[in-house]
Amino acid sequence: MHGLRRLEYRGYDSAGLAIADGGELVLRREVGKLNNLEEGLKRAPLTGNVGIGHTRWATHGRPTAFNAHPHTDCSGQIVVVHNGIIENYLDLKRELSDAGHRFESDTDTEVLAHLVESLYAGDLFAAVLAAYRRIEGTFATVFMHRDEPGKVVGLRHGAPLVAGLGSEEHFLASDVTAILDYTRQVVYLDDGEVVVVSKEGVRVFDHEGLPKVKEVHRIDWNPAAAEKAGYEHFMLKEIFEQPSSLTNTLGGRLDEREGRVFLGDLGLSEAELRSIDRIVIVACGTAYYAGLVGKYMIERLSRLPVEVDFASEFRYRDPVITDRTLAIAISQSGETADTLAALRECRRLGAKTLGIINAIGSTMSREVDGVLSLQSGPEISVASTKAYTSMVAALLLLATHLGQVREELADAVVAGLINDMKRLPGLVKQTLETADEVQALAETFALSQHFLFLGRGINFPTAMEGALKLKEISYIHAEAYAAGEMKHGPIALINEAMPVLALATRSSTYDKVISNLQEAKSRKGAARGTVIAIATEGDRAITAHVDRVIYVPGCSELVSPVINVVPLQLLAYYTARILGKDIDQPRNLAKSVTVE
Ligand code: G6P
Repeated sequence: MHGLRRLEYRGYDSAGLAIADGGELVLRREVGKLNNLEEGLKRAPLTGNVGIGHTRWATHGRPTAFNAHPHTDCSGQIVVVHNGIIENYLDLKRELSDAGHRFESDTDTEVLAHLVESLYAGDLFAAVLAAYRRIEGTFATVFMHRDEPGKVVGLRHGAPLVAGLGSEEHFLASDVTAILDYTRQVVYLDDGEVVVVSKEGVRVFDHEGLPKVKEVHRIDWNPAAAEKAGYEHFMLKEIFEQPSSLTNTLGGRLDEREGRVFLGDLGLSEAELRSIDRIVIVACGTAYYAGLVGKYMIERLSRLPVEVDFASEFRYRDPVITDRTLAIAISQSGETADTLAALRECRRLGAKTLGIINAIGSTMSREVDGVLSLQSGPEISVASTKAYTSMVAALLLLATHLGQVREELADAVVAGLINDMKRLPGLVKQTLETADEVQALAETFALSQHFLFLGRGINFPTAMEGALKLKEISYIHAEAYAAGEMKHGPIALINEAMPVLALATRSSTYDKVISNLQEAKSRKGAARGTVIAIATEGDRAITAHVDRVIYVPGCSELVSPVINVVPLQLLAYYTARILGKDIDQPRNLAKSVTVE
């Protein structure tokens, strides 16, 4: 239960466990938060020393006790828990049903239990290995069999799984924080590996069943720094966590095979989504900028008009809301007073409401009709980084879903979007390799009094978020402008003391951005070496127009805000560090502002 609690951020709409107890596998599943499961265990305790557990956030099938994990085969001899998605589950379900298997849930997970049942001949490890050859998708999954009570078999394919080596006890978990209180010796599994945990220890095999020798890592973080994972600041840790936080946001929601996204927790039916005629997004701070990116995505993919407003402004401007409006509140904490008030106002006026929220169980998440949970894990640093990229990714999921439900998107376009989203965590990882170059940039410009960020189109909000990050933690005055608007005023500010950073990656507005940069550069100061570009790898031509370039990997325009913001986060971080500022807790700011 303690381990599950540490993982609750991954989902909390239902939970369950199975324990090998006196020759039987005993199952407990409850809808709602972990407390419900815990209460049940207090009333009727279980005994045993081998078990598996899970907390669920619904994708396939509603949050009910039947859909909660663990799932079992027909005989109740096999139990399984699973994170991720089994993409060919419908084919497998059909095949197994034809062979006489009876299914009790709507989940993709349940096919795993029946598939292993159909392949079982006295050896769980062999059956899991055989099952692995039949399943497609992204998953980490763990099995037990009644007749092999001292054994747990796990499989990793695209979703995290880590083994913990204790003294006289061993663990498997989807995040090391779940087991850190019991052991510091861990083995990180790689994709395609099968792990058998038993009294004898932890044994790892490749996908053909051949034993592998794995490195044992010792986790030395003390409990306070545990969450800091060896990084100097939470902010840096959270920046570097983005490949995995994005995997958590996107992971189980993309179905390449079926060509659709799963937003099971949306709480709004397809008919409801078809009936809306306008979207209003309300948010504060960084979440507001994510909303601005979302406007581009939703309008482009679903053709629904989208308005984005500061929550603090929205409620006082007598907004036009009808019962055909979908109001979306975006919030990391789910507690921001202004956002909450704006949301309540939307509800009062009859709008349907959706929350794009990170904090589980927050006030906002309880007041909306549906939640798209970010699942990016706790964010400690006041300046938001990983929650921002997860918000943008979640908005792309939503925009794709809306476009599909409203029949605005051809299947090939959806397939392309799914592919872009799948590649995103890897591309962000590559982008993080710019850290040293960005640090060098910070060293050059840390003493600047001002900074100007330019962007266009979907990356204009990226410029705003970059400026906000720098302001928040380094206290340098930074401003963002739409590059095309420069000539209407702000260009007057350009001089040698004003570094200009432009988002100039390949996009539909690339040529326009380049001419805007030429305008800036032809002004005196800029010619002295103050124009910096974030550009697409391979774009050598840009060096003719700017003084410094940070290259980021090429990607489609719709996902580019997630990639392009990464060097800006790093720039703010390194600048603040050079200036010796209090990075995780900047002056005058709070992580969650619960007053108006
Ligand atoms: C505070 C924080 C910001 C954050 C904003 C919205 O001002 O300092 O970093 O973006 O609140 O917070 P939320 O939790 O609603 O996303």
